[in-house]
Amino acid sequence: MAAAGSAVGLGNVWGFPTKTASNGGAAFLVIYLIMVFLLAFPMLVAELTIGRHGQSNPVASLRSIWTRNRVGATFFGLIAMVTASLLLSFYSIIAGWLIGFSAAPTFEVLGMNNVSDWLVSFGDTRNVVLAVIFSLLTIYVVKNGVADGIEKWSTRLMPMLFVLFAVMIAYIFTQDGAIDGLKMYLIPDVSHITAPLLVDALGQAFFSLSLGVGSMIAYGSYLKKDVNIPKTAAQVAAIDTGVAFGAGLLILPAMFVAKHNGVQIFNDAGELISSSDLVFQVLPSMFDTMGGAGIIIGTAFFVLMVIAALTSSISLLEVPVSCAQDELNMTRGKATWLIGGLITVTSIIISLNFGALFNFVATFTTVYMQPLLGAVWAVFVGWIWHRNNLLNEIKQGNPDIEQGLFWKIWPWYVRLVCPIAIVMVFLFSIL
Ligand code: PFF
Repeated sequence: MAAAGSAVGLGNVWGFPTKTASNGGAAFLVIYLIMVFLLAFPMLVAELTIGRHGQSNPVASLRSIWTRNRVGATFFGLIAMVTASLLLSFYSIIAGWLIGFSAAPTFEVLGMNNVSDWLVSFGDTRNVVLAVIFSLLTIYVVKNGVADGIEKWSTRLMPMLFVLFAVMIAYIFTQDGAIDGLKMYLIPDVSHITAPLLVDALGQAFFSLSLGVGSMIAYGSYLKKDVNIPKTAAQVAAIDTGVAFGAGLLILPAMFVAKHNGVQIFNDAGELISSSDLVFQVLPSMFDTMGGAGIIIGTAFFVLMVIAALTSSISLLEVPVSCAQDELNMTRGKATWLIGGLITVTSIIISLNFGALFNFVATFTTVYMQPLLGAVWAVFVGWIWHRNNLLNEIKQGNPDIEQGLFWKIWPWYVRLVCPIAIVMVFLFSIL
């Protein structure tokens, strides 16, 4: 459940619907599902297995596999650590917006309209203040150690999220325009399948399953030896994909309902206008149409999303903090404040240079670095790790695995197909 908490986050409710809407709808959905099943899921098994084998921070876990080249393993581990930190610095900005949207209705009810307007309007000060608040929340949880509280939160969060989604989806289909969104979401137009769409879908799948940057390696290290890793990974992937699918089922119809109600979402050329805050325009406009209930449902939705973002951000901060703690012998408190502080400063810099930096950092970390690091971990598992040792690790918690289909396919699949397919998608997009 903690790994599911890491996976379910902004990627599902903000990234996936935004990317789906700006890549033609159903075509993106289909390719995304293929990417999750064919590339992200096998890599999730690989990362959890690396972590459980290492029983330590991600850098040390990588070294436990590449024992003959400890410097090389440390080098790649450090790249993952830096990527996780950069990713968190832009993640906190969006998560900060969620805090704004969850608090705004209360201020509105209290008659403090200028505060609620400030909380939901794009602006440097708001972006900075809310990102700092979210970073402090993340630092607070990580400082106290992840193992305990997270799983409890994630376990409570998922059912609540599912119920709320069901209510909101049922509601949106009572509104005019929703059916156009549903058509866009579910009827594929293959002409939209282009090289950038493939890269976007791959990046989104890796982002959504928290791959590449070491979070799942770190969480794998918390798994007991009696846990069946492929099964756990399948459950995480299923929950994550279910939430993403549900978010699309809500947000694409909600986009067309908002359009029907006069919110401008597409420009004259038919392109989405402001994609990074699309969700933040569409959902509040839906809550507005719900009257009094909209205040409660809107607040509940955004509060749940803040929690979902928090169970993801802690898995990101955990990567550099656990490394600093073990490798540099720092106390957890000191490592968390130091690294969390540096990441917060980076968030502030990005917020103050939003136009120049935000998309750049988001694309660099999620679209490029996450899959490329994934390809590196595939090489670790497929080429560097001795097959017998890999089998021994994955056998624990799954004694009959050798006889099953999974073991017949997965090792060579991760060895050959995963790295080649990931690299090919990139080459394809460059050419
Ligand atoms: N999977 C998270 C989401 O969908 O919001 C984001 C994320 C968390 C990406 C942890 C990477 C990571 F290591």
